[in-house]
Amino acid sequence: MSERPYTVCHILTSLDGKIDGSFMSAPETAPALRAYADIRGQYDCAATVYGTITMIEGYADGLAPVLPEQSRSLPRTDHVADAGAGHYIVSVDPKGTLGFRSNAIEKKGRPKAHIIQVLTEQVSDRYIAYLREKDISYIFAGADRLDCTVMVKKLKSLFGVQRLMLAGGGVMDWSFAQEGLIDELSIVLVPVADGDRAGASMFESAGFYERERPAAFSLLSAERRDGGVLWLRYRKKNKE
Ligand SMILES: NC(=O)c1ccc[n+]([C@@H]2O[C@H](COP(=O)([O-])OP(=O)(O)OC[C@H]3O[C@@H](n4cnc5c(N)ncnc54)[C@H](OP(=O)(O)O)[C@@H]3O)[C@@H](O)[C@H]2O)c1
Repeated sequence: MSERPYTVCHILTSLDGKIDGSFMSAPETAPALRAYADIRGQYDCAATVYGTITMIEGYADGLAPVLPEQSRSLPRTDHVADAGAGHYIVSVDPKGTLGFRSNAIEKKGRPKAHIIQVLTEQVSDRYIAYLREKDISYIFAGADRLDCTVMVKKLKSLFGVQRLMLAGGGVMDWSFAQEGLIDELSIVLVPVADGDRAGASMFESAGFYERERPAAFSLLSAERRDGGVLWLRYRKKNKE
C-alpha cells in the first residue's frame, strides 16, 4: 500500500496555458468553469491543496493580523485539530502568513472543509499560537524549505486522506510534478487564448529545486464537453 494519497492535479487552462487572466471572464469560459466544478466533484477527493497565492486570492481571510509576542518557544510538532472532518482544505503557507476567521472554509456547492496549514519550521511562535487559538490543524513539512513529499505522507497518516486534489496555482503544481507526486493530470481546456505574457501559467518554476526536469505524462482520455471545452486526462509516466 502506498504511503501517500493518490493525487490528481486538476487545472482549468486557456489555449495558451494560462490559469488566470482576462480569459476567465470571456463568455466562452463559462461552460468550462461549470465543467471544472463538475469534474472536481466527480473525483470526490477528501482534501484539496492550494498554494499560498491561491489561498490569499480565494480561500483565506487575508493575511494574519499583527500577533502578540510569545513568552515561550512552542514545539514544531504537528497539530491535528480534527481528524474526522472528512473534507479538508490544505493550505501551503511555509512562512505562516495567512489569516483565518475560523478553522473551516465553506464555499458554495462544496462541502465544509477543515483547514490544514502546511508550515516549515521557520514559522514564528506567535503564528503557531494563532493557529492553536483558531483550532486550525497544522503540519510541518520541511525545516526551512517546503517538502511536498513529507506533506502528502502526513496527510495520509494523520488525516486518513486517500485521494488528494491539487488545484494550483502553477508554482504549487510544478513542485508536485518535480517531486513525482502527480498520479493523474486533469486538464479542462477552454477554447480561448489569453495572450498575457505575464499571466500565471499551468506549471511555473519558482527555483525551489536545484535540478529541474520536464514532467512527462501519457494521455488517458480526451473528452469533448459543452461549448467546445476539452477534458484531457493524463497519467504519470513512470520512468526508470
Ligand atoms: N485555473 C486554475 O485551475 C487555477 C487553480 C488555482 C489557482 N489558479 C490561479 O493561479 C494563480 C496563483 O498561482 P501561483 O503559481 O502564482 O501561486 P501558488 O502556487 O498558489 O502559490 C505559490 C507560493 O507558495 C509558496 N511556496 C513555498 N514553497 C513552495 C513550494 N515548494 N512549492 C510551491 N509553492 C511554494 C510560495 O510563497 P512564498 O514565497 O510566500 O513562500 C509561492 O510563491 C492565481 O492567479 C490563481 O487564480 C488557477
